[in-house]
Amino acid sequence: MSELPEHVRRNAALWNEQAREYATYGEQAWARDEPVWGVWNVPESELGLLPSSLAGQDAIELGCGTAYVSAWLARRGARVVGIDVSEAQLATARRLQQEHGLPFPLLHGSAESVPYTDASFDFAISEYGACLWADPRRWVPEAARLLRPGGRLVFLTNAFLHTLCLPAEGEVPAGDRLLRPAFEMFRVEWPDTTGVEFHLSHGDWVRTLRGAGFEIEDLIDVRPSATSSGRWPYATLEWARQWPCEEVWKARKRG
Ligand SMILES: C[S@@+](CC[C@H](N)C(=O)[O-])C[C@H]1O[C@@H](n2cnc3c(N)ncnc32)[C@H](O)[C@@H]1O
Repeated sequence: MSELPEHVRRNAALWNEQAREYATYGEQAWARDEPVWGVWNVPESELGLLPSSLAGQDAIELGCGTAYVSAWLARRGARVVGIDVSEAQLATARRLQQEHGLPFPLLHGSAESVPYTDASFDFAISEYGACLWADPRRWVPEAARLLRPGGRLVFLTNAFLHTLCLPAEGEVPAGDRLLRPAFEMFRVEWPDTTGVEFHLSHGDWVRTLRGAGFEIEDLIDVRPSATSSGRWPYATLEWARQWPCEEVWKARKRG
């Protein structure tokens, strides 16, 4: 661990602390048949993040956490591998694998440097994993290296607009004003947490993805579904029904 970049070590420590509290969500998600995405649980049938067939495909989840996304991929016939930098999150993932009788490799390590040879995978995915917590200048080229030509990368993370409207301190949800300059975003450290996040403008994502050898296929502004409910410390459903709170990028490796 000591040779990992500082932001990776800090995020590993943060997620080791948060893993116990987070396990309940992982348990519920592992038990689901149909994937639901993001904080508003939008069903896969509405959002369509997954390729129509995953049978026989080699897939990797970058920042898998409790690995429920990996479990959904495995149940759809993919040969899946999950990688995460938090031992405690992986311990939950391993327990849930045993409880559900669904073994697949889980690696302890950073998505910025994955111990697989070039062109090992057809599909890479991250839901609030590496795409939020790892440096895009490192993990995006690494995802491109891992994918075969034509392979797909899909990730879901906070919408840039939401981050611009989010108060920095306290558990106060995003309001209807821009609170920080867009041009100073990229690496973000909130004052009340020890983690390091990465929030990119759309221009930065386009350049980062294209520069790594991807063609962008879609950018989805996620809308809560009619059945979404609840409230998060940082976002209300009312806000998310008016502005994008989350976004999905879909890209395909050139070749
Ligand atoms: C909110 S969880 C998302 C994962 C999964 N969707 C879930 O909800 O369990 C974020 C995960 O990203 C992992 N993570 C953060 N930085 C990472 C990195 N550089 N490489 C791999 N995983 C990382 C954390 O350890 C954590 O388990």
